[in-house]
Amino acid sequence: MSTPPKVAPSILAADFLILGELLRAVEAGGADRIHVDVMDGCFVPNLSLGIPIVEAVRRGTRLPVEVHLMIEEPDRYLDAFAGAGGDQLIVHQEACRHLHRAVHHVKGTLGKRVSVALNPATPETTLSEILPDIDGVLVMTVNPGFGGQRFIESTMPKLSRLRAMIRDRRLAIELEVDGGVDERTAAIAAGAGADVLVAGTSVFDHPQGATAGVRAIAGACAGGLLLQRV
Ligand code: DX5
Ligand code: ZN
Repeated sequence: MSTPPKVAPSILAADFLILGELLRAVEAGGADRIHVDVMDGCFVPNLSLGIPIVEAVRRGTRLPVEVHLMIEEPDRYLDAFAGAGGDQLIVHQEACRHLHRAVHHVKGTLGKRVSVALNPATPETTLSEILPDIDGVLVMTVNPGFGGQRFIESTMPKLSRLRAMIRDRRLAIELEVDGGVDERTAAIAAGAGADVLVAGTSVFDHPQGATAGVRAIAGACAGGLLLQRV
């Protein structure tokens, strides 16, 4: 990998009272896309945001919007989140009984990009059959459900194995990492082969503001790429 990873701020950590302002701030910092975390209190033990917020984010930014569906039976809501303005829908392998059908519905019928997320305990081999059909894999580096958790570093070998699978099979798939990404762990993930880093707390709680938060993560990746070359 030669290009530095992209940064996808997760608005879960944003102050919703000033969401429009914060979207402009992360754009100014060079964010690549906006990450929206949807939780149903069932697949994960927390409730977060839904369709109206995706619509608001769509109106508030020119950046692509990716929707991380941490919900049971995501198939039931794919049309709604695509219609609300999601450019990329991320479904969990663990939540999709008919993953092939869901993936092809998003790509074929809805004409959107699709990624599949893997919880920390889910091996990459579960994606072996579907890999050629998808646009990305989201490697969870925390157990999904909450922002501000600690990065689980033992997920990094899985990321590296996915990087190798993608290279060996000559697939154009983006590898994304989500959870506990800060300046230290961004460098680790970049070194292990991540293309996109989702960051919530470290961006929106940055002492110098969200613009500086995005720049700090992007800057830290340069160190990770150096590590990779050693
Ligand atoms: C966790 C979510 C993440 C979360 C990341 O379940 O999927 O996207 O917002 O937040 P931080 O960066 O605070 O770990
Ligand atoms: Zn997420």
